[in-house]
Amino acid sequence: MKIEPATAIAGHIAVPGDKSISHRAVMIGAVGEGETTVRGFGRSADTEATIAAVRALGVTFDEDDVDTIRVEGVGLRGLQEPSGPINCGNSGTTLRLLAGLLAGQRGRFELTGDDSLRGRPVDRVAAPLAEMGARVETLDGKPPLAVEGNGLTAIRYELPVASAQVKSCVLHAGLYADGRTTVVEPLPTRDHTELMLAAAGAPVSRRPGRVSLEPVERLRLGELDVPGDFSAAAPFVVAATLLPGSELTIHDVGLNPRRTGLIDVLERMGARITAFHRRRSGGEPVGDLEVQSSELVATTVKAEEVPRLVDELPLFALAAACARGESSVEGARELRVKETDRIETVTTSLRALGIRIQDRDDGFGVRGVPTRPKGGGMGSDGDHRIAMLGAVAGLVSREGVDLGNAEAVAVSFPGFFELLDSVTQR
Ligand code: S3P
Repeated sequence: MKIEPATAIAGHIAVPGDKSISHRAVMIGAVGEGETTVRGFGRSADTEATIAAVRALGVTFDEDDVDTIRVEGVGLRGLQEPSGPINCGNSGTTLRLLAGLLAGQRGRFELTGDDSLRGRPVDRVAAPLAEMGARVETLDGKPPLAVEGNGLTAIRYELPVASAQVKSCVLHAGLYADGRTTVVEPLPTRDHTELMLAAAGAPVSRRPGRVSLEPVERLRLGELDVPGDFSAAAPFVVAATLLPGSELTIHDVGLNPRRTGLIDVLERMGARITAFHRRRSGGEPVGDLEVQSSELVATTVKAEEVPRLVDELPLFALAAACARGESSVEGARELRVKETDRIETVTTSLRALGIRIQDRDDGFGVRGVPTRPKGGGMGSDGDHRIAMLGAVAGLVSREGVDLGNAEAVAVSFPGFFELLDSVTQR
């Protein structure tokens, strides 16, 4: 697929429902009481993997519409042992969050995934689950992961890495523990799990740097409106910022501050992004974003900021490439264990387009020049965020970008190219 250069981005869009929140709504709805209606469900290969996994565990769904689903809850301990392994596809969120709930069920459950997922670490969830008393097996710290629950013991767990997936897994298991479970975070990560569990009636208490949960008898979510996915909005934000004369409005997008680090970073580089019509939906901050193009200057993304834009760091690299001066990202070693080693894939793919970017052990350095990069051909190694990065790079380039096979985008955002096309001026 070839993405041709654009002159500007203009118009109004809405993006699909938040992927992180959609996964959680399916899982928490599944172990809830009665029916949960999820509106604005973010359909993607990843969230379909969660639906399929939960279905394999005996939960039924009514899929009323593309973006409205109803989950028939089976109660906290009602998930059933399936006949074979559960395939989580490409989705680390599915595997790691589900493992926590499965530790509280009767039976033995095996979770696996595609080639990429089977190369990613799950010892980070196996360790706390084992500490709580579950029997957990992995293949040298990678999937398949087998979990067999036992009476779980409440623990206080200090996350060795800042990971919302690990935090969420421990909180999920904490629902079944014999007392108060506490997770201590080195840095604030996305808090969708704590917000949703609290909305479902779980006794969640929070202090800076930690979250605690008491076991519960039952959860009930009822109805949920999923906000637009900030990570899906991000490619549009960056494209509109970089293309002169752009003016784009993105409606109903999630603005949870633990997700919007990219806005703060772009603003300090000189971007013009305004959030308005701010409100709350199901405990989550939501609003509209207006983006106007602007010239950017270089900046450094420090380790403390990384979790707030971890999935947007590839896009930051492109913004930095078009900004005046030397930018860098520090303390982002976690990028190495995403769907691909994103330090490697970001630097290799952007270098192929004529961008001066250098990989470092825990991040990258970019020499920015405020002109359009040349463009060319790049692969995405089956990584959706790299393919979307390539698409934005194509728009802002001089010669366009040939993405090769961009099917991976369906993992997080089916319809991405059509939506991009609808606001692109050539
Ligand atoms: C996610 C957490 C992040 C993020 C991923 C989704 C989640 O992963 O990169 O895309 O929904 O909890 P880590 O927890 O591994 O940092």
